[in-house]
Amino acid sequence: MRRLWHALPGGSPHTIVSQMYNLLKFLHVLSIVAWVGGLFFAVGLLYPALRPLAEQERVASLARVMQRFLPAVAIAALLALLSGLGMIGMVSFHADGGFRMPLAWTLMSTLGLVMMALLVYQYFGLFDRLEQRAAAGDWAAAASVLARLRTGLAITLALGVATVAVVFLA
Ligand code: HEM
Repeated sequence: MRRLWHALPGGSPHTIVSQMYNLLKFLHVLSIVAWVGGLFFAVGLLYPALRPLAEQERVASLARVMQRFLPAVAIAALLALLSGLGMIGMVSFHADGGFRMPLAWTLMSTLGLVMMALLVYQYFGLFDRLEQRAAAGDWAAAASVLARLRTGLAITLALGVATVAVVFLA
């Protein structure tokens, strides 16, 4: 992706402002690594590894994992959003009114917002339903919620990989 240092005061990576920009980018990429890497682990490895377990044991284990995973990725997503907006704010603030958002940034932000909307549905829609079904001991219904959650996570993973491809290839 095109370097935008020229839009920042000093125009070099060594000023305080440029270092702040670097720090935001570091936090941004770190949160994306946690989020997309976590999705890969959950969809690609965890779900298949637990498949041989009895239904009740599998559902209870996955529910316990999701109880930790979903809040953790929600924090990572929020951090990605805030750091991304922070970088856009810094560049536009220092562009003296001449800021035009690069296409790759627009695509990244749009795909990122779609991923976040899916996460909100997974957390507040599917996970809530999963906990209710599991608490009621309805393991078959809980298993079908988990299957839908897996599909949702797989779609989010595909969007995440597509976003990274856009960032580096567009
Ligand atoms: C609403 C959400 C998002 C906003 C506002 C946003 C914004 C930004 C901005 C402004 C940059 C700095 C680019 C540069 O300095 O060249 C950036 C970098 C980056 N973003 Fe995002 N982003 C968002 C979501 C995402 C998502 C969902 C992903 C991946 C799944 C992602 C992956 C990256 C990567 C890998 C970089 C580093 C690119 C480089 O160093 O060339 N971002 N983002």
